[in-house]
Amino acid sequence: MTKEEAAGRIAKLSAELEHHNHLYYVEARPEISDQDFDFMMKELEALEKQWPQLASPNSPTRRVGGDITKEFPTVLHRSPMLSLENSYSREEVQEFVQRIAKEHGRTTFTLELKYDGVAISLIYRNGELVQGITRGDGEKGEDITANIRTVRSIPLRLHGHPPAELEARGEVLMGIREFEQLNAEREREGEEPFANPRNTTAGTLKLQDPKIVARRHLQNYIYFLLMDELPTRSHYANIMQCAKWGFRTPDPRRRFIEQADSVEDIMAFIAYWDQARHHLGIAIDGVVIKVDDIDLQEELGLRAKSPRWAIAYKFPAEQKFTRLNDVEFNVGRTGAVTPVAILDPVELAGTVVKRASIHNADQIAKLDLHYGDMVQVEKGGEIIPKITAVDLHRRPPHARRVTYPERCPACGTVLVRDAGEAQHYCPNEHACPPQIVRRIEHFVSRKAMDINGLGGETVDTLFQAGLLHDVADLYDLKQEQLLALGKGWGERSTRLIIDGIAASKDIPFEQVLFAMGIRHVGETVAKKIARAVGSIDRLAAMSLEELTAIEEVGNVIAESIRDFFGAEGNRRILERLKAAGLQFAVAPGRQKAHDGPLKGLVIVVSGVFETFTRDGIKQAIEENGGKVSGSISRKTNFVVVGADMGPAKKAKAEELGVRLIDETEFRRMIGA
Ligand code: IVH
Repeated sequence: MTKEEAAGRIAKLSAELEHHNHLYYVEARPEISDQDFDFMMKELEALEKQWPQLASPNSPTRRVGGDITKEFPTVLHRSPMLSLENSYSREEVQEFVQRIAKEHGRTTFTLELKYDGVAISLIYRNGELVQGITRGDGEKGEDITANIRTVRSIPLRLHGHPPAELEARGEVLMGIREFEQLNAEREREGEEPFANPRNTTAGTLKLQDPKIVARRHLQNYIYFLLMDELPTRSHYANIMQCAKWGFRTPDPRRRFIEQADSVEDIMAFIAYWDQARHHLGIAIDGVVIKVDDIDLQEELGLRAKSPRWAIAYKFPAEQKFTRLNDVEFNVGRTGAVTPVAILDPVELAGTVVKRASIHNADQIAKLDLHYGDMVQVEKGGEIIPKITAVDLHRRPPHARRVTYPERCPACGTVLVRDAGEAQHYCPNEHACPPQIVRRIEHFVSRKAMDINGLGGETVDTLFQAGLLHDVADLYDLKQEQLLALGKGWGERSTRLIIDGIAASKDIPFEQVLFAMGIRHVGETVAKKIARAVGSIDRLAAMSLEELTAIEEVGNVIAESIRDFFGAEGNRRILERLKAAGLQFAVAPGRQKAHDGPLKGLVIVVSGVFETFTRDGIKQAIEENGGKVSGSISRKTNFVVVGADMGPAKKAKAEELGVRLIDETEFRRMIGA
């Protein structure tokens, strides 16, 4: 076969495979057998192997997974990815409709299902999928294109005559059956099951291996179109046009999308789906009501984070009764002892619930829980369901009351409860095993010391093996000690751990402070304190008054900090960590934040500014996690433009399509 012949055959096979893929995954009316499909796929794979230069990044072979993605570059969204304002009642929906009617006259609404998945932005150029981006913080997301290509209902090439450039936004989700199968598989393999389809989808989209993503069978629906010139001035018609281009869109025949002129119609659609959603096979958490007329949408405009032309109606949280079999008391990192209900498995909002949170001792008392009680579990937006009521009529005779333990279930120490706090704590912080393990787990976690290769299970093993007694022991670990642990501790994985520990010595003070795990000092508070105080030595020496003078630090946090530094054990660990070379001060020249709203962005500054000096704006970029670059290149995410931008820079930015933003927008991005 000549190269030309191969190219022809590859093009033909690709087009046919995508056609059948579309019939199967979007239209649900396959025309050929799975076997014939696989057969064509095999032929294409073989040809691409023989002629790698002819393999397109959008080849159907990429649907089963391409190369490992090393990192997901940060991408600025062309326009922010907004969320929706929520409503929960007929009154609120009525208010929304009437407000618009009063100001703009009667208008038509498009009703759609509110898919409970992960928002995604898909960029197509000349009909080819070029980028799939997560929502991220709404302003910028992560480029996860290789993973997106594995989602079968997302077209790799658009049908018909799409414009040169378009962006389609929608939701990626996992079907409930797929979710349950995956969890069954995980449980068979002794892995912790996933909490719900939405979180599983979010986690799956961030996997580095697209092959695993492909096996998770994610789905997609498109509900929003962005183009320089939209095909029509009706949202509904635009969505129908998206379907013609090959996207999977809300299906009018199955009433996933409908038009309405009145609150009555809207409420009927909502009532229908509040029931019908249980047989849908995917999770929806409400209905979205959108003004259909694009001109009116533009007139109504946006709020800070959501459009004024749309509103979400959220279904009420699902509740069910089930039996309480047992209560476990779990000891957390800070010693807090939390009761967890062990339940007869019950299906709730699309997932099987076996455990629920009971929060604290007061909650047990308030519900007057007894073993064997029929309890009401509720699942709102949160991952962990909670117990909200007890059916006293169904209490078994002679049921035993659930009592909160007086002693720590792990180490037997008498529990304490601080005045004004809901939680009981085990005060034996330096010898209570689960506290130590959880503290080390927290210390190594991504937002803290970010130590590669160490996770919950490995930390537990190292603790059991007697290699770790506290976080400072990490820095004394030797690779030989890890290798000696035997099976599963190979050269490569142990090297990764040792290198990860060494690299953590460069983690900035803000994160180190968070890693210390001081009670009530979360990520944000740690950052604020680190920046305000500058070093751990100063922090340790501060009085309560000085501490409460820091932004966001109240009495509870201040006292917790004093307690932390007052404890002899903590001081000893601190000294050892200092000796190991961790960052305990915001050193000059090291003030660059590794995190912040501009994390991962390369930014060029040009012109003169009103509220910043040149150095000031650069510093602001670095303090918010961004990187300043002197010249515009393809890597530049955007240019902050002041007065008198140089014409050469302007031309270059235009040529490369790099976005320009002004000082006001920049200030908004960094929350100034
Ligand atoms: S429209 C400006 N339509 O809900 C347009 N969003 O709570 C904003 N969502 O971030 C989105 N189904 O991820 C829209 N039919 C639908 C939706 C939908 C689910 C998600 C979307 C959004 C979130 C807001």
